[in-house]
Amino acid sequence: MRAVVVYESMYGNTRLVADAIGAGLKTAFDVSVVPVSQASPAILADADLVVVGGPTHLHSMSRAATRKAAVAAADKPVSPLNVEPDALGPGLRDWFGSLGRYPVKAAAFDTRLHGPAAFTGRASKGVTRLLRAHGFDVIAEPESFLVTKQDRLDPPETARARDWGTELAASVVPGRAQGARS
Ligand SMILES: Cc1cc2nc3c(=O)[nH]c(=O)nc-3n(C[C@H](O)[C@H](O)[C@H](O)COP(=O)(O)O)c2cc1C
Repeated sequence: MRAVVVYESMYGNTRLVADAIGAGLKTAFDVSVVPVSQASPAILADADLVVVGGPTHLHSMSRAATRKAAVAAADKPVSPLNVEPDALGPGLRDWFGSLGRYPVKAAAFDTRLHGPAAFTGRASKGVTRLLRAHGFDVIAEPESFLVTKQDRLDPPETARARDWGTELAASVVPGRAQGARS
């Protein structure tokens, strides 16, 4: 069985989470983890599970203007942040805009700051809405993984993302992912 993880990332944190989720999904699936800039609709062909995530910007999914602002912030001489090579490319909103309907199991995640989601917002809510609008069968609650104020992934979140991937795999393919936790 095949799982595809599609992610958007400006500073690399969501990429790290996507990779960790992919590692968890490998307990039951052949997994492809792809940046949204390379996620042609063909990549979803034959997928049994699609997992989509991106960074939370201004309480929601990114937009062209917020991605530009993220790059500008990283370009400041004092900033230690590096942007991903495709940071100014298409975001998840653009990707969904060109997507057809997929009656495939799916789940959404995001990265965001610490704090109640009511204050920070969460991109995974919008991703979930768009997944449903495109006919996906959303099988899990949207999940957030947390970054520090310095825009670094909180270290424990990598293991939590892997475990979330393992649990997702087990919910789709009961039995296959058992004992996969480390
Ligand atoms: C323009 C901009 C707006 C942001 N707005 C929010 C926000 O509303 N809520 C939040 O929790 N985090 C916000 N953040 C922090 C991002 O969620 C964080 O940079 C992201 O999760 C890091 O993931 P990435 O490295 O994959 O880009 C914002 C970041 C940027 C650059």
